[in-house]
Amino acid sequence: MATQSANEIKIRHATLTDIDSFRELRLEALKNNPTAFGQDYDENILQPQTYWETTLTINSEEQALFFAEQNKQLIGMTGIYRRMSKKNLHSAGIWGVYVKHEWRGHHIAESLIQACLNWARQKNIVIVKLGVVANNPSAIRCYKRCGFTTYGKEPKAISFNSEYYDEYLMSIEIKY
Ligand SMILES: CC(C)(COP(=O)(O)OP(=O)(O)OC[C@H]1O[C@@H](n2cnc3c(N)ncnc32)[C@H](O)[C@@H]1OP(=O)(O)O)[C@@H](O)C(=O)NCCC(=O)NCCS
Repeated sequence: MATQSANEIKIRHATLTDIDSFRELRLEALKNNPTAFGQDYDENILQPQTYWETTLTINSEEQALFFAEQNKQLIGMTGIYRRMSKKNLHSAGIWGVYVKHEWRGHHIAESLIQACLNWARQKNIVIVKLGVVANNPSAIRCYKRCGFTTYGKEPKAISFNSEYYDEYLMSIEIKY
C-alpha cells in the first residue's frame, strides 16, 4: 500500500529494509520527547537488533506500522496493534505517533493516524484507542481533528525525572 499526498510526502507500510532508519527515528522520538512516550530512550538504545526487528511490525492481522517518507527519508511514524483474543479482536491501540520537528504542522500525523484507521477498518475493528500526555496540546488537537474523543484520564501514567504526567485516554468508534 502507498498513498501519495501533497509535497511528495508518502504514507506507507513499514518494510524490513526500514530497520536502521526506523531505529534512528524511534530513538530520536524517545530522546527528544521523553514525556510523550511510555518507552524510555536509555532502555531502548541498549536493545539488540532482534528487538528492532520485532518492533518493526510488518503489516499483519495483528499489527501494522506506517511511515511518512519524503525524498526517501523517514520523517514520521505511527503504529497500531490489536490483541488476537476473540473478546478483544474488535479493538486496537495506536502507539508511537511521531513527526520530525522540522515537518510538524503539516498534518502529517493526521495522515499517519488515518492510515491506521483505514487498516483498522479493513480488519473490521470497531474501536481504536490511544493515550496522550495531558500537556501535549499539539497531539491532542491532531487526535480531536481525526475524530478521537476523551473517555478518561490516567493519573501519573508516566514518570520522568521525578515528575509525574497524567494521560488522557482517547478513542474513536469506526462506523461501517
Ligand atoms: C504530536 C505530533 C505527532 C503532531 O504532528 P503534526 O504532523 O505536526 O500534527 P498536525 O500537523 O496535525 O499538528 C497538530 C497541531 O500542532 C500544532 N502545530 C502546528 N505547527 C506546529 C509546529 N511547527 N510544531 C509543533 N506544533 C505545531 C497545531 O496546533 C496543529 O494543529 P492545527 O493545524 O489544527 O492548528 C508532533 O508534534 C510530534 O511528533 N510531537 C512529538 C511527539 C509526540 O508528542 N507524539 C505524540 C505521542 S501521543
